[in-house]
Amino acid sequence: MCGIVGYVGNGRALDVLLSGLKRLEYRGYDSAGYSLQMDDSLVVRKCIGRVKELEEMNPGDAINATTGIAHTRWATHGEPTTVNAHPHSDFSGRISLVHNGIIENYKSLRKKLVAQGISFESETDTEVLAKLVGSEAGKGKNLFDAVKDALVQVRGTYGIAVLSADQPSTLVAARYGSPLVVGIGDGENIVASDVAAIVAHTRNVIYLEEGEIVEITSGGISSNSSDPRMTRDRIQHVDWDLAEIEKDGFSHYMLKEINSQPESLRNAFRGRIDLVNGTSRLGGLGMSESDMRGVKRIVITACGTSWHSGLIGKYVIEKLARIPVDVEYASEFRYRDPVLEDGTVMFVISQSGETADTLAALRLAKKRGIRTLGIVNVVGSTIARETDSGVYIHAGPEIGVASTKAFTGQTMILSLIALAFGRAKGNLTREDGIELCRAIMEIPEKVETILGGCDSIMEIARQFTYASNFLYLGRGVNYPVALEGALKLKEISYIHAEGYPAAEMKHGPIALIDDMMPVTVIAVKDAAYEKVMSNIHEVKARRGRVLAIATEGDNEIRTVADWVLEIPPVTDILVPLLSVIPLQLLSYYVAVSRGCDVDKPRNLAKSVTVE
Ligand code: M6R
Repeated sequence: MCGIVGYVGNGRALDVLLSGLKRLEYRGYDSAGYSLQMDDSLVVRKCIGRVKELEEMNPGDAINATTGIAHTRWATHGEPTTVNAHPHSDFSGRISLVHNGIIENYKSLRKKLVAQGISFESETDTEVLAKLVGSEAGKGKNLFDAVKDALVQVRGTYGIAVLSADQPSTLVAARYGSPLVVGIGDGENIVASDVAAIVAHTRNVIYLEEGEIVEITSGGISSNSSDPRMTRDRIQHVDWDLAEIEKDGFSHYMLKEINSQPESLRNAFRGRIDLVNGTSRLGGLGMSESDMRGVKRIVITACGTSWHSGLIGKYVIEKLARIPVDVEYASEFRYRDPVLEDGTVMFVISQSGETADTLAALRLAKKRGIRTLGIVNVVGSTIARETDSGVYIHAGPEIGVASTKAFTGQTMILSLIALAFGRAKGNLTREDGIELCRAIMEIPEKVETILGGCDSIMEIARQFTYASNFLYLGRGVNYPVALEGALKLKEISYIHAEGYPAAEMKHGPIALIDDMMPVTVIAVKDAAYEKVMSNIHEVKARRGRVLAIATEGDNEIRTVADWVLEIPPVTDILVPLLSVIPLQLLSYYVAVSRGCDVDKPRNLAKSVTVE
C-alpha cells in the first residue's frame, strides 16, 4: 500500500517521480504529492485523486529540480484529503517526508510534540514522524542522524523517503516492515517501493534490509547496516522487460493478465517437469525425497486469493501425497498460539511477497523453528528473502489489483509440489505421475481454448450488469474456485457475492435464492458431478438462475442451466486451473459493463503492507 519514489541525480526529478508514481499507482490511489528541492527550499504539491491530477499542478521553477520525493496514498489514518496527502513537513517546512506503513504509537508521540509547542495540520500518523525528524534535526543533527534518532522512538512499520532543504542533493530512506528498493543508475539513484518505478531507468537494484537506513546521493549510497558501504555484491539485476508492465494494447491490466495465463502457466512449470520419472523437480525447495518423506504435516498460510490457491493445494496435496494440510488465514494464524509439532513445514503463499499478515505468520513459524517455504511471484520480495527456501511462480509483474495469473501460477506450483511429495512418498506410481505431468503440460493450450470463447462470456456478463447479489457454488477442489470467483466479482464490480460449498447451500444460503439471484455453479464432469446436478435442481426449484461452468460436450447440463460456459476436459485435480478462467472473465466483463475502474477498484490496493 502507498507508493514511494525518490530521485537524486542530474536529470529532471519531476519526470522520474511522476512516471514512477504512475507505475506504483496500483499500490494506492486516493491522493498523491511530491516535494522538490529547489535552491535552498522545498516545493511541495499535493492533491486528492490520481497521479494525473498531480501532473497537472504547476511546480514553478522546481520543474528543473534534480532531487525530490513523491507518494501515492492508500489512506490508513485520516480520509483522503489534500492536507492528509503526503509529503508531510516538519514544523519549519524545511524537511519533507513520505511514508508507507503505520506508526502505531503516533498518538503518544504527537502529544509529546504538541507539548513542545509543535502544531499539526493533518490527522495522519505520518505527520508525527515528519515533525519528529524535524525536532531531531533542530538539535543540530544532519538528516541521516535525525532520521535515525527519530526512528528509534517509533513503533510500527515504515518505508520512508526524506528530503531536507538544508542538505542539497541528498535523500534519506529507511525501511521496517514496508519494502524499499534503490535503483543504482549512472550518476543518478532512485528509491522506490517497488522496482516497477525503477526499471525504466536502471535494472540494477539493492533491496533494503529490515531496519536499514540509507543516505542516497547521485554518487552513491551509504547505510547503517552491518554492511555499511553499499558494495557491488548487494546489487541484483532485475530481468523484467518494460513491456511486461505496459498494457500492451489491452484496455486493462487485468484483461492482459487473464490473457497471459497460457504463457505464465508455461513459465510456472518450465524446466520443472520430469517426464521420465513422472515427477516434478523443484530445486528451489531445497528438499530431498527423504526430506519430503519426513514431512508429517503441512501448514499453508496466505491471504485473499493466495489463500484460495492454498485451499486447492490442500485438496491436491492430501490426495496425492496423503499428508494432512491445514490452510490458515495469515491474519488469524499470527495472533493464535498455533500448535506446530516437529515434522511440520509451512508453505507461505504470496503474489507480492510483501503482505504484512503473511509476513508476520512466516516470522512466527520461523521463531518456532518450523521450516518455511515460499510460493511467491515477486522476485527479491521480503517473503521470498525471509523464507528458508521456495519456488517462484514466474508469472511476471501482476499490476491489476485483482489477482488472476498469480492465482493460476500458485495453483500450478501447488500441483507440482503435490506431485513431487506424492512420488517421494510412494503414493503415486511412476505411470500415474507421468500421466499427471502430461496433463499439466496440456493446461496452457486448454486455457487458450477457454480464452477463445471470451465473446460469449462477455454477452452473458452484460445480462448481470444490474445484479446486486451472486452466489458461487462448487464442490471438492472447485469449492475454493467458487470462493475465488465470488471474491473477483465483489472486488471489481462491487456486487455482493458469496462462495459456498455446493452442498452447504441448503444449510442457509438457499433462503436467498429467487429469480433475481444468479447462481454460478462449477459443475464439471468429475466425481461430484451427480451431486452438483442435484444442487442445481434445488436452485432451479426456487426459481434461481443458474450459470454453469461445465465440461465440453455435456448436453445434460444444458437442460437445467440458464447459461453454460464450457471448459475442456481435464483430470479432476487440475480442474481449478481451467474452471477459474471463465469466472475471471465474467467478473471482468460485469465490472466493465458497470463502468467500474477494473484495475484500481475503490478502497483496495495491490500490496497490503499494513495489518
Ligand atoms: O500479494 P499477496 O498474494 O500476498 O496478496 C494477498 C491478497 O491481498 C490478495 O490476493 C487480494 O485478495 C487480491 N486483491 C485478490 O484479487
